Amino acid sequence: MRVHSLVTVWLLGLVSNLISAGVAQESDNSSSVVPLKEAVGERFQIGVGVSEQTLSDPNCAELIGRHFQVLTPENCMKPQGIHPGENEWNFAAADRFVASARQHKLGVVGHCLVWAKDDRTDQWMKQGDDGQPVSREQLLRRIEQHVSKVVGRYGEAATMWDVVNEALADGSDGYLRDSVYSRTCGIDFIETAFRSARKQDPDALLIYNDYNCHFPDKRQKLIRLLTELKERGVPVDAYGMQGHFELGDDSLAQLRETFVALRQLNIKVVVSELDIDVVTRGRWWADDGKYRDELRIYDPYVNGLPAEVAQQQSDQYAALFRLFDEYQDVIARVSFWNLHDGQSWLNDFPWKRTNHPLLFDRELEPKPAYFEVLSVLQRAKSAQNIEPSLVSEAPM
Ligand code: XIL
Repeated sequence: MRVHSLVTVWLLGLVSNLISAGVAQESDNSSSVVPLKEAVGERFQIGVGVSEQTLSDPNCAELIGRHFQVLTPENCMKPQGIHPGENEWNFAAADRFVASARQHKLGVVGHCLVWAKDDRTDQWMKQGDDGQPVSREQLLRRIEQHVSKVVGRYGEAATMWDVVNEALADGSDGYLRDSVYSRTCGIDFIETAFRSARKQDPDALLIYNDYNCHFPDKRQKLIRLLTELKERGVPVDAYGMQGHFELGDDSLAQLRETFVALRQLNIKVVVSELDIDVVTRGRWWADDGKYRDELRIYDPYVNGLPAEVAQQQSDQYAALFRLFDEYQDVIARVSFWNLHDGQSWLNDFPWKRTNHPLLFDRELEPKPAYFEVLSVLQRAKSAQNIEPSLVSEAPM
């Protein structure tokens, strides 16, 4: 009898322990994982680019506040939205974004003052009052006015600015991307934008932002641009490496060469828009777009990411963060582009599909990639904490 009741108590205890362990494991996922910003420590700032809608969602805002230090407005500060006519301004969304960032005690990266592409530039900017192509003087004056107004308004909140976005041509095409800006002013428009930004915000980190500049052809142009700007005394502080990677990219060696070259130029790096596309998009542009019809209906991961693909993505993120850790002396910030898989821009660009490019899934739960990144950061940190003398005395 006594033995029987003891066994019953033991069994009940076991069951209750099992239940509470399960509950703990469930809540473990989102609210009790180590926050990214804590794991990153003093290495560099950690941030995320989000829309104003994301920031106004309480669950998203909570997750953002827990993991990140600095926010980039995904769209609401871009020239086309904020400055729809020469004398027309629409600050409402950016004002709300900045107010909300401040309320959550988060920093702001201004993005972006000039987006040097024709399809990202309103018609009014491209033409003169007579309907003819805009003159050099007028375009430079407009850039000066735009930059001064936006930086003047948000300079107190923003500690960094993406001053010029995507001005370099791709691959082996010419030096600057063909646009109204380069056609009309050469690199002078870049100079004007940076000088105007500096005038309004003497302390901010001023960034030239672009993609694929670790590829040798484009890197050469980046170095040329930054060197020319420096020779002219233009206040450019950092290269914004967008970091829109694809699953299977093997760019570590090229990234390393890029970081070393920038270090030599005394230019900082910010990883400004990090994600890893798992429904890779390269073929969209290949062979004059002949695969587009086929791709438009290609959507392999509607029901989730298979474990082996998730693992591949985790490994790739881990390798990137090991590299970022190694180059922390040049890297000022690492920002993801969007908070969770469900609202990544890669669900729509360049075709509609179910993508999974980030560290948090559609339920806002951390993915395997999250835990890999965390363990890289924690491992690297504990390696840093070992005294050099201890390292040299360790047995061989
Ligand atoms: C993207 C946004 O994420 C989309 O919502 C928008 O439709 C287009 O722009 N490089 C940049 C970002 O500098 O501003 C872009 O953001 C992604 C590529």
